[in-house]
Amino acid sequence: MWLLQRVKLILIEKMKQLAPSILSADFGNLSQQIRMIEIGGADLVHCDIMDGKFVPNISFGPMVVKAVRELTKLPLDVHLMIDKPENYIEDFRNAGADLLSVHFEGVHHLDRIINRIKEIGAKAGVVLNPATPLNMIENILENIDFVLLMSVNPGFGGQKYINYVTRKISDLASIREKYNYKFLIEVDGGVDENNIKSISIAGCDIFVAGSSIFKKSNITAATVNLKNLIKDS
Ligand code: DX5
Ligand code: ZN
Repeated sequence: MWLLQRVKLILIEKMKQLAPSILSADFGNLSQQIRMIEIGGADLVHCDIMDGKFVPNISFGPMVVKAVRELTKLPLDVHLMIDKPENYIEDFRNAGADLLSVHFEGVHHLDRIINRIKEIGAKAGVVLNPATPLNMIENILENIDFVLLMSVNPGFGGQKYINYVTRKISDLASIREKYNYKFLIEVDGGVDENNIKSISIAGCDIFVAGSSIFKKSNITAATVNLKNLIKDS
């Protein structure tokens, strides 16, 4: 099962991918809302996990991820904004996470947790807050599957994209090219129809979008629109 999932993940790695964040979804109608992003061509489902300590907001935990797992076959991209993520990665993997990312700012032993995420069969990502410089993770870039660059301060959906992050995306893409690294670049926060193309041109591969999809009156149309905007860039 895990092997099949990994093959599927490898196949989609080459394309630009849209990862709607269900943080902004209507949880009373989650099943329909996920169906709408599937019809629109979403590639992943982004799950934002917040504990009220690492970030000043609480969202949901492994039980909800497990419920989402039963609603869709799309890979689940689980972004951990929690203290001591090392204590919970197995729980989220067992709940159905295919990609697991941890904040550089939130772990003491980054290399250890990245190895552990890979051992349990998930793709491993490191997240950087907007103001954390890229050089903090230069030694681990060759070992990770993706880097998630936050383009808002984590904790809430619906915030404005921080413009200096675009430069960070292109710097990271240049580093990847220079050293022939294989990691993907994911961008999360304030991504919408007005900025997604320039974020793509800067070098982003996976685009997280919450409110610019789920707060629109037509969720499927919003998904299709964002997918079209990244298709050729
Ligand atoms: C912020 C979360 C984001 C957020 C994105 O802490 O990591 O995934 O939900 O939402 P929008 O697209 O509304 O900024
Ligand atoms: Zn996120």
